[in-house]
Amino acid sequence: MTRKLYLIVLACLALAVTMRAKKPSMVINVIPYPQSVEVGKGFFKGAGANFNCDQAIDADCATLIRDFADKLTFITGKVNSFAVPVGLSKIAGNGSVKGFIFLKDNAMGPEEYSIDITKKTCVVKASAYNGFLYAIQTLKQLTDVTIFSDKVDPAQKFMFPVVSIKDKPRFAYRGMHLDCARHFFPVEEVKKYLDIMAAYKLNRMHWHLTEDQGWRIEIKKYPRLTQVGAFRNGTMVGKDFKSNDGIRYGGYYTQEQIKDVVAYAQALGITIIPEIDLPGHMLGALAAYPELGCTGGPYEVWTKWGVSDQVMCPGKEGMFTFLEDVFTELMELFPSEYIHIGGDECPKTEWEKCPDCQARIKALGIKSDDEHTAEQYLQNYVTARVQKFLNDHGRKIIGWDEILEGELAPGATVMSWRGVAGGVKASALGFDVIMSPNSFCYFDYYQGDPATEPLAIGGDLPIEKVYGYEPFEGLDASQRKHILGVQANLWTEYIGTNDYLEYMLLPRMCALAEVQWCKEEDKDFDRFAAALKAGSFKIFDTLGYNYRKF
Ligand code: ACM
Ligand code: ZN
Repeated sequence: MTRKLYLIVLACLALAVTMRAKKPSMVINVIPYPQSVEVGKGFFKGAGANFNCDQAIDADCATLIRDFADKLTFITGKVNSFAVPVGLSKIAGNGSVKGFIFLKDNAMGPEEYSIDITKKTCVVKASAYNGFLYAIQTLKQLTDVTIFSDKVDPAQKFMFPVVSIKDKPRFAYRGMHLDCARHFFPVEEVKKYLDIMAAYKLNRMHWHLTEDQGWRIEIKKYPRLTQVGAFRNGTMVGKDFKSNDGIRYGGYYTQEQIKDVVAYAQALGITIIPEIDLPGHMLGALAAYPELGCTGGPYEVWTKWGVSDQVMCPGKEGMFTFLEDVFTELMELFPSEYIHIGGDECPKTEWEKCPDCQARIKALGIKSDDEHTAEQYLQNYVTARVQKFLNDHGRKIIGWDEILEGELAPGATVMSWRGVAGGVKASALGFDVIMSPNSFCYFDYYQGDPATEPLAIGGDLPIEKVYGYEPFEGLDASQRKHILGVQANLWTEYIGTNDYLEYMLLPRMCALAEVQWCKEEDKDFDRFAAALKAGSFKIFDTLGYNYRKF
């Protein structure tokens, strides 16, 4: 009996020791967590290690890799030499090559990568730009946070744990939206936003550029859009809709700045999808060109938040000419396959009274029915005409889920924002969908108790809730095929400073990144929260991002 007990105690002790030994090996603070991780024992030293790059790797990818080598060198002062050895792919495994080894593996998907670290080598494989980019992002999170700094640190060794990682994203579309219309954010802040998106492997930035409260993009053919439409005579204070702070407010991006931001994003593996929100949310344009509206004005760039009844007039052919001209310049600036045409919150009160709109309804033979008014079908006509124009120029449209009301032409992608209902319906009808439900993805909502948080628009979206979002819930297999991915939106009515923008973004965007990247079964809030605190918060501190602690 005593002997038996002794053996049991011994077995328990052995188990405890094994578990203790295993436990640290399971912890890496990488967000989003890779699909497969096996941690071994020991470390690889990055400081001064050679970089070996496969000849088959193209110049853009080689630049990425070289930049990473240069960053290590800059910080430690120990040179990470860069070479493209002949036949590297054949000799890489025979032990003769030490240091970093980057290989091209054409069997991998465009955003897939693997990392195999031993004490002597760090072998990275990918097939395309984003794969190499994401491998490097993972490597940065595996080593000392100093890698994110601009400070020289000669003592830094940049140790990487021995680990084997195989990784690829769950969803192809991993988006983050930015409203630069309610409040204007300078190019440097937009780039900072893109930087942090790329660090967490997001690949689409939805740029909301036009609104009732301001038009933010230079269009050469319509200079008044930015001369007049980009500035408002004050802004309401807090939630007092009768107030005005009396401070003229505005700003816009020149086409040169837009090109610069688009190129900057491209280097970070991010496609920028511009949005021209139509036919509602258009007071910026109407103030500049009143002939585009039903009443002819006068209009004013709005000084308060909400949904204006004053919208564009689809009864007038000039509205379509204007939009086609704007999209023509837009397409020159944004190579994105998708263009967002808005379509949300378009009140129909003016159209009901407007002789031109009513004449258009009559000419088109549009009739109301039990489900929709004639004016609703008129909005479908607007969507279809803009869609055809963009399709004829090789682009596809995305619209907010209102575009689904009535009739929607094939080929449109629906962005489900009023909960998940729009996405459920659109996918059942065979439309592609981007899930962006306000219930999980509206980062203008409060992330804690409104009594202690800065003023926000409302709502309740703590990080745990973002993390818990499961985009496939309630969808059958045929619907799931249409879910391109997930996006969170950051509307900026109440967000007027860079600091507050970052506070609302972080760390909720990290939770979003796991929703977008990780398989449902690999998500684990406790692991994620620990990685945030031990890893990502240090990254934010080093890079100078404001964020909400929890
Ligand atoms: C929206 O939030 N109005 C798309
Ligand atoms: Zn009209």
